[in-house]
Amino acid sequence: MKDAEGSGPTARDPGTNSGLKGGKMSQLSKLFEPLQIGPMTVPNRIMMSAMSAGPKVDEKLEITDQIIAYYVERARTAPGMMAIGATAVVPNPLRRGIRLFDEEILPSLTRLVEAVHRYDTRFGAQLFNPGGTGGGPIELISPSGISSNVRDARESERSPRKQNNRPLSIEEIPGVVGHYANGARMAARAGFDFVEIHAGHGYLISNFMTPLFNRRTDRYGGSILNRARLLLEIVEAVKGAVGGRLAVGVKFNGDDFIGKDGWTLAETRQLAPMLEAAGADYLTLTAGLVGSPRLTIPPLYEPHGCYLELAEAVKPLVKIPVAAVGRIKSPQMAHDLVAQKKVDFVVLGRAFIADPEFVAKTRAGQLDDIRPCLGECRGCADEHIQRGGLTTCVVNPRMSRELDLIDVEGVAKSAPKHVLVVGGGLAGLEAARCAAFSGHRVTLCERGERLGGQLLLAAKMPARSELADILPWYIRQLNKYGVEVRLSVEVNRALIEQMKVDTVIVATGSLPEVPQHLINIVMNVANIKVLMLDDMIRDDSFTGAKALVIGGNQNGILACDWLAERGAEVWVAEAHGHFGEKLAGHDRWYLLNRLAKKPVHRIKNVRGIEVGGNDDVWLVTDEGTQNLPGIDTIVFASDRRADRGLAEVTEKLSLDTYVVGDAHDAESESASTILATIQQAYDVARRI
Ligand SMILES: Cc1cc2nc3c(=O)[nH]c(=O)nc-3n(C[C@H](O)[C@H](O)[C@H](O)COP(=O)(O)O)c2cc1C
Ligand code: SF4
Repeated sequence: MKDAEGSGPTARDPGTNSGLKGGKMSQLSKLFEPLQIGPMTVPNRIMMSAMSAGPKVDEKLEITDQIIAYYVERARTAPGMMAIGATAVVPNPLRRGIRLFDEEILPSLTRLVEAVHRYDTRFGAQLFNPGGTGGGPIELISPSGISSNVRDARESERSPRKQNNRPLSIEEIPGVVGHYANGARMAARAGFDFVEIHAGHGYLISNFMTPLFNRRTDRYGGSILNRARLLLEIVEAVKGAVGGRLAVGVKFNGDDFIGKDGWTLAETRQLAPMLEAAGADYLTLTAGLVGSPRLTIPPLYEPHGCYLELAEAVKPLVKIPVAAVGRIKSPQMAHDLVAQKKVDFVVLGRAFIADPEFVAKTRAGQLDDIRPCLGECRGCADEHIQRGGLTTCVVNPRMSRELDLIDVEGVAKSAPKHVLVVGGGLAGLEAARCAAFSGHRVTLCERGERLGGQLLLAAKMPARSELADILPWYIRQLNKYGVEVRLSVEVNRALIEQMKVDTVIVATGSLPEVPQHLINIVMNVANIKVLMLDDMIRDDSFTGAKALVIGGNQNGILACDWLAERGAEVWVAEAHGHFGEKLAGHDRWYLLNRLAKKPVHRIKNVRGIEVGGNDDVWLVTDEGTQNLPGIDTIVFASDRRADRGLAEVTEKLSLDTYVVGDAHDAESESASTILATIQQAYDVARRI
């Protein structure tokens, strides 16, 4: 089974070619015009952003085959440029990953570069030091020994977290500059076409630029020129080391968006011509710090092209190419930005994670076949950057498994089964797509009038309608692979027998339920309206003014935003110590910032909820009992029950049966997340 819509090549099949020179040009022709960047001719205007994708090296510190497969799968569609994620340049024996300061990395790094260079793309390495980001035993270096976390830095003069973070002495700085130049030399020896100096995101160079993190009083602190001095010296040194052979780019924050103690757009406008004069061959304008209100990996709460204004502000000030990054995911938008000369090229990150064939499909004009990044960061940002594991993707179940999961279209055609998928939510859609792609005959029955299941409700939450953008993509894939879709059909034993299927995939979802220990609430209320979350959203049936939401995980906390938008004052009672735990960290950050501006009261560690006479509502916490006056609506948003009754029927019929999505698991930590739903359905369906 091949991923998505499969005629393209696979990671183990480098001979086939969906994106090499001479591919069919789409109407988005400006995107596919070449561009000169320093000594490097770039075949088109799309760059795959520098993105680390999980542990890159094995125990021998050699780059893994899996990481090579990740890059190759994207390289074969021939983006103009692509860069490996942040690579360490300042020697530190404890630092893992691709160590550009370590001779031993050279053979496997060269192997990676050669593998990518089989395709028509320019390949770069990003030169990096984390500055005050991170924790643990590794020694961090920074301008003033302050953590790069905005909140921590504002609270303390020194590193408050468990960080081994020390300020660089002025005598050490030339050595650090030299390490960047050495890293660039190593990149040149491995065969890279360009290097990108990472000067954003609260890492070392960015720390020097941001007054909040840079409290120095020497020539590297204070004025803008002093704070930018380290970057300018690094650009000059790197240029001196590899200029003329490799292009030298700079990726830096156009604005930290943290107010007066941050790096600002006005400063960026001053700096850009200085970077050009120092030898930079291109500039990419990014944004975001740990703990800033706007993040580097912006979730769906940010608009498409959210940081474009930063690049636009810089472009008229320099002659070198300028690029924008941040939520650019539509080929049309990418094209228009280039065609209207707002930028010279576009840098896309997660669009490449969600669909490795983004460029090939854009080039071929198959825009509807591009699987969209939803900006729901539970996979990429959470799994890798926050939890340190492999990068996954909520819509691309093969992400970081490119080497092992090779899907071949029509592989089951010689002995196809008739597969019945019951339920047209995400799990059913993914299972149907996968099974049909393999060549099985698939019928999908949905009891409702529309496909989408719970996703239709999730997309009704404020500012989250983009989640539903995956549905047209699924519908198109099902059409393409000949899935018969039947809507408004209740599947029962008689129908299954009549259909004469070989295999049944039960994707019947879950239902919200009142937890047993809270049944007394339902029995005791007099005039308070009691609503189940799904019904309230589906029917838009809230008419009250003061609501208590029971359960503050993903669904409950999102419901608060929905209720507040309808003018309600909201209390949310959560049994555990955190809210929205199932949400991606980045989504949650934006959501909690939204809720902070609304009349939403979050109460955690709630041990009991009681309703007395006269509709008096009480919450019991470790601190005591709290009365919530005037509650007129109680919304149950905590527990869900898997609806898998049909599986018992099919098993009695001795049919090959699989259960996917919420019907399989409605209770675990990751249950009911898009990430877990699609991945589990994919893994199950590819076994058929
Ligand atoms: C998994 C992941 C890893 C990333 N690693 C890096 C990195 O190593 N260096 C970097 O400059 N940006 C990194 N980024 C940020 C992206 O390069 C990009 O700036 C950001 O995701 C915004 O672009 P997008 O909206 O197109 O994804 C990473 C992003 C993701 C999702
Ligand atoms: S996990 Fe979400 S945000 Fe990240 S690439 Fe996939 S769809 Fe986009």
